[in-house]
Amino acid sequence: MDLLIQEIKKEVASGKLRLPRHIAIMLDGNGRWARRRGLPRTEGHRAGGENVSRIVRFCGLIGIQFLTLFGFSTENWQRPWEEVKNLLNLLEEYLITQREELRTNNVRLVSCGRIEEMPERIQTALRETQEATAHCTGLTLNLAINYGGRAEIVDAFRKAQQKIKAEELERDNFHMEEVRKLLYCPLLPFPELLIRTSGELRVSNFLLWEIDETYFWTTPTLWPDFSPSELKEALVDYSLSLPAGSQ
Ligand code: IPE
Ligand code: MG
Repeated sequence: MDLLIQEIKKEVASGKLRLPRHIAIMLDGNGRWARRRGLPRTEGHRAGGENVSRIVRFCGLIGIQFLTLFGFSTENWQRPWEEVKNLLNLLEEYLITQREELRTNNVRLVSCGRIEEMPERIQTALRETQEATAHCTGLTLNLAINYGGRAEIVDAFRKAQQKIKAEELERDNFHMEEVRKLLYCPLLPFPELLIRTSGELRVSNFLLWEIDETYFWTTPTLWPDFSPSELKEALVDYSLSLPAGSQ
């Protein structure tokens, strides 16, 4: 990984490679990864969690500023309850066991989604890790938890309604920029690159408002196998897609 990081840094310095500020990833294929090995789905989710740590660290080291990961969607509640419980347990475990690692790597954790609907123990683990990393100045890791793109837009409308009622916002002054301020993470730039693993070509209710100009990149690789060198391929394609001279 070290050689790869050096190579990327050199290419960025020479202007050959232009990095996005914000990468969003739909982690998909944990179940298939496990099935191909004759393992239970839980093992796929565990391997997927381990890969989250690897990719987060790598993104921080190459100088990405924001990384949004689709950890748990509003649709994931429809899965068999045993699997939902397993995903929630892994999420809690990640938030607790990675706290120190994130801090050491200067990664700040934030989140987006209907967090208030998550079990109390997840909310606590999330809050504590966010507080423990609030001072970090490297990569910002944004975990999408109980996140749905449509739910985000509905929630923005609800907030707008409340603001209009409280006379903090005039109905006639409600424009695009106003919507942006009411999204879950108003301070994050929109992602320039969206990656989906496991060959799916669907947007699946992820970041609907935020991806109007985003470059979409997919790979048949299943999430637990998605490596830093493959991420570099996505970065190269993204960089080549930019018009010459643009920022
Ligand atoms: C992604 O893998 C896991 C989550 C982020 C919830 P899947 O569980 O969707 O794996 P497949 O699609 O069944 O292979
Ligand atoms: Mg899937």
